[in-house]
Amino acid sequence: MKFNEFEIIYLEELESSNNYAKKYIDDNFEQKNCNKVIHTNFQTKGRGAFENSWYSSRDLNLLFSVIICPKIKAKDQFFISKITSLAIIDYLKRKGVNAKIKWPNDILVDNKKISGILIENSIISDKISNSIVGIGINLNEVLFPDEINACSLKLIKNINFDINTELVLFLSSYSKFLNLCKYDNFYSIDDQYFSRLIGINEFLRYKKDNEIFEAKVIDIDEFGRLVLENLVGEKQVFGFKEVELIIN
Ligand code: BTN
Repeated sequence: MKFNEFEIIYLEELESSNNYAKKYIDDNFEQKNCNKVIHTNFQTKGRGAFENSWYSSRDLNLLFSVIICPKIKAKDQFFISKITSLAIIDYLKRKGVNAKIKWPNDILVDNKKISGILIENSIISDKISNSIVGIGINLNEVLFPDEINACSLKLIKNINFDINTELVLFLSSYSKFLNLCKYDNFYSIDDQYFSRLIGINEFLRYKKDNEIFEAKVIDIDEFGRLVLENLVGEKQVFGFKEVELIIN
C-alpha cells in the first residue's frame, strides 16, 4: 500500500520489524529502499533500546519500522531522533494529547511512556546510507506489566483506535518532519525539540550508578549527549545509558 512518499509493507507477525527491515535492505541492496515502512501487528521479539524488549499484545498497538535515507552526515545522526520524536509529538497533538520527550528516545504523557523509538543507522564513510527507525506507539493496550511505567491512547481517551488509520496519520506527521531534516532547518528543529524536552532548564533528579543528584538540562551536544548542569553550576556530559532521569 502507498501513502504519500511511503510504501507500507504489512506482515501479520514478525520477530521484530527492525530486524525484518534490516534483512529487507540486505536482500534488496540493488533497489532503493528509502521510505519503506515495515508494519506488523505482533512481534515475537520486539526490541527496545539498550537490549530491552518492547511489550505489546497482539493486534493492539502500532509497531513499525521506517527505512529513511536522510541527507545528513553521520556526526549529525541524533537529528533523526529529534525529528522522529517531534513527529510522534505532532501526531499525538492531533489526537488532542500533549506529550513530552524524555532524552534520548522516549515519548511520555503525564510521565508515562506512550511511545519508544529504536534507531539503527548504516553509515558509509561519513554519511548515513540508511536509517531504520523502529517506532512503537501504545494505542489500545490497557494492562501493562507492573515494571513498565506506560500508558496508551485508549487509557487517555477511553476509546479504541484503528491501527491502520493511526499509522497513516502518523506518517503524514512524519512526512512533514522528514522534509525538515535538512541542514537549513536544524535551528528550527532544535527550537521545537527543546520546547518539548523534559528537564530543560528545570532542576530534576538524575541517577548515575548509585548516585542521585539534581540537575537541569542545558543542551544536547552534537553527538546527541545530554549536557546537565548541577546545583553548583558544574556541567557534565552524559552518553546514552550513562545517566537516568528519575521520574516521580
Ligand atoms: C524503546 O523505547 O526502548 C524503543 C522501543 C522501540 C519499539 C519498536 S516497536 C517496532 C520496532 N521493532 C522493534 O523490535 N522495536 C521497535
